[in-house]
Amino acid sequence: MKYGTKILHNGNEVDAHTGAISIPIYQASTYHQHDIEQPGKYDYGRSGNPTREALEKTVAALEGGRYGYAFSSGIAAVSSVLSIFRPGDHIIAPEDIYGGTYRMLTSFFTEFGIEVSFVDMQDANHIEAAVKDHTKAIFLETPSNPLLKIADLKAAVDIAKKHGLITMIDNTFMSPYLQRPLELGIDISIHSATKFLGGHSDVIGGVVVTDREDLAKKIYFVQNGYGAILGPHDCWLLHRGIKTLRARMEMQQKSAGEIAKWLQQQSWVEEVYYPGLESHKGFHIHAGQASGAGAVLSFKAVSEEVTKAIMKNVKLWAVAVSLGGVESILSYPVKMSHAAMPEVERERLGITNTLIRLSVGLEEADDLMEDLARGIS
Ligand SMILES: Cc1ncc(COP(=O)(O)O)c(C=O)c1O
Repeated sequence: MKYGTKILHNGNEVDAHTGAISIPIYQASTYHQHDIEQPGKYDYGRSGNPTREALEKTVAALEGGRYGYAFSSGIAAVSSVLSIFRPGDHIIAPEDIYGGTYRMLTSFFTEFGIEVSFVDMQDANHIEAAVKDHTKAIFLETPSNPLLKIADLKAAVDIAKKHGLITMIDNTFMSPYLQRPLELGIDISIHSATKFLGGHSDVIGGVVVTDREDLAKKIYFVQNGYGAILGPHDCWLLHRGIKTLRARMEMQQKSAGEIAKWLQQQSWVEEVYYPGLESHKGFHIHAGQASGAGAVLSFKAVSEEVTKAIMKNVKLWAVAVSLGGVESILSYPVKMSHAAMPEVERERLGITNTLIRLSVGLEEADDLMEDLARGIS
């Protein structure tokens, strides 16, 4: 079966009890036990729910893993995975990691005794150089947010194997349609399902997938024990959204590529960051580990004045936090996704006041380009 078909037919599309071709929203917090000596498969809504299970198994199948877990947000998914570690453990993470994950690591997990080293993962040697005796994991994000920097997944897996480390990735920007890290040896794939998996800017959720039974047990223990589960209705929305993942990704990516090339030719643009451009530093590595460049790109305008004019005058682009929806979204990382990062750190990483991130939706690319240019004229 080809991947596009698997998105719709992965064994989780028909309700086992009714034959409904949309898994019902099992809006129940608990389940009657017919025989207390032999409890049924489901006993309490936090521990399990059929709508959630359909979503979890669908994303697991699409990521190529056996175990999936849905959480109340992407950040709940990340923090729940990080909760499998213990005080004294050391984790290596990308220096340009999503701002919310940076805040969580630096404001919570370091307080709980977990040490984190932030490194530039564009060069795998930096990862290896950061390994210590008590290092337990490598956390990857590629392409990274917001500069779309690329880390070499196979090189990271080799380093992890050599030192006995767990590898995990935030795969939000690519979705499993474009990048399947488990197939490259990564242990855990994490999504803010709020983005491309849901695809319609109408639900907040997170999903984690692994093929390792030992890690699956730990993650489920946290999911049930900490309890940051995703509610049945939101699970249903995500399950429905995933059905159009291929169609959305293909079309949004096509427009993103056109917009990236067009931006490169504009006099008011200083630099464009998109892994589909040959000029992008990680172009070749990305092409070797993903089947497309995705629908998110960033660019630096020539001045802050131009940046502000674009944001003020666009009519089609929503100026908003988030990405991955069918509507195009223009984000301002310094005030949005990376506001939690100290200014000096942002400046050092190139997340400047002139940087704009675009999440390209399903509108016609020509209209989107005209809309961006409106502010300049
Ligand atoms: C790459 C990435 N990871 C994680 C998150 C957090 O996800 P959520 O907003 O669903 O909690 C985001 C949100 O913007 C993100 O862009």
